[in-house]
Amino acid sequence: MDYATRPSFRASRDAFDAARALIPSGVNSTARSVQGGWSPYPLFVRDGRGSRVTDIDGNTYLDYLLGLGPMIFGHRPPEITRAVVDYIENVGTMFAMPTLAETALAGKIVEAVPSVEQVHLTCTGTEGVLYAVRLARAYTGRSKVVRFEGMYHGFSDGVYWSKHPDIEAAGPDDAPVAVAQGAGLPPHVGESLVVLPWNDVEALRSAFARNRGEIAAVLTEPIMCNTGCILPEPGYLEAMRELCSENGALLVFDEVITGFRVARGGAQSIYGISPDLTVFAKGLGGGFPVAALGGRRDVLALVDDGIVSMAGTYSANGIAVAAASAALDLLADDARFDALWSRSTRLREGLQERFDKHAIAARVVGIGPLFQVWFTEQPIRNYRDAARHADQGRFRLWWEAMLERNVLFHPGPLENLFVSFAHSDDDVDATLEAAASAIDSLAASW
Ligand SMILES: Cc1ncc(COP(=O)(O)O)c(C=O)c1O
Repeated sequence: MDYATRPSFRASRDAFDAARALIPSGVNSTARSVQGGWSPYPLFVRDGRGSRVTDIDGNTYLDYLLGLGPMIFGHRPPEITRAVVDYIENVGTMFAMPTLAETALAGKIVEAVPSVEQVHLTCTGTEGVLYAVRLARAYTGRSKVVRFEGMYHGFSDGVYWSKHPDIEAAGPDDAPVAVAQGAGLPPHVGESLVVLPWNDVEALRSAFARNRGEIAAVLTEPIMCNTGCILPEPGYLEAMRELCSENGALLVFDEVITGFRVARGGAQSIYGISPDLTVFAKGLGGGFPVAALGGRRDVLALVDDGIVSMAGTYSANGIAVAAASAALDLLADDARFDALWSRSTRLREGLQERFDKHAIAARVVGIGPLFQVWFTEQPIRNYRDAARHADQGRFRLWWEAMLERNVLFHPGPLENLFVSFAHSDDDVDATLEAAASAIDSLAASW
């Protein structure tokens, strides 16, 4: 398909020209930008319902982008929309005073995730991570933080480094250096980070040895969702847990993507690891902006004592609390996750079968409702593997071929495909049918 000049995208193309005159880069997040993969222009949305979105040209897609993850119940889930509207109409939105609803929501999160004893609500994952790192520094009296190349933990100055660095500029494979994610980050902040390759126990062990008594926290996604969907190798998270405990550092799980998505108790419940602190967002709000930082009571006690300060005019606003509370009520039904996993597995396996049929070097990798396709035969264990081996040109052609067949996901090969509770068996069938036709046509030219 010739995306750039496609007549059926004309309204989006014109809308982007108009937006660029008023909005820098034409969009309000890099993930929606030309640089983020939407080249040469993003599609503009008219509306969404359930598992589908419609663009302003009137094209309707089966949606596996899902707002980059929050729409775990699909678009406009009636129970959550109703709960939010009721709250606004009957209670209000913000008071700068606590409400009973906040405590009730905290109780639901504590009940769902065993490692969480107390909860602090924020509006975004970025804020949740920022506070988790601050708490870890305050608790340990240390300043360094381990973060892994290829992960994204929000855009605050302290962690917006080495997300997807140019590997020529990122130091040797076994000793990466912190690379700022764009201009404007103070260089001294990068010096507080120990950047490591993921899925590498020895790299972590030797980082602790080199920085004895200096590491406050190891910050990680339990599944590396910001470089496609890389699973932890057996024993890796366990080793991470042990090394943190042995060395007096806190283990911080960033479950912004995995939380309330791969399981009610998050990825930590699947892998059986108990982090000291966890950040949740996306799935927690069912499409409304809300995030939570939770974890050990003795760590969060620093907030209790006023030693660590956490502010936020919009934190625990009524809309966020009503949405998250309604979402958690829906998630209490385990049968939902069973159905989600069986549909998602059928989809992942079905895609792999269709690639295999044509002997295309593609690996569909992920867990439950979260996956990505790597166009390579090489195993991908960390960011540098992905940067070196995944064929981005082929990914783009795959993306366009699926879009042409009305199946939407993010154009970036390092993003994820998300399946929602709203995706039906028929949706999975339609996606596999589209994939079979897309792969037939790609195979002919590859
Ligand atoms: C793992 C992870 N952590 C943190 C964030 C930042 O969350 P937010 O966009 O809500 O600030 C994201 C966003 O995509 C994420 O994927």
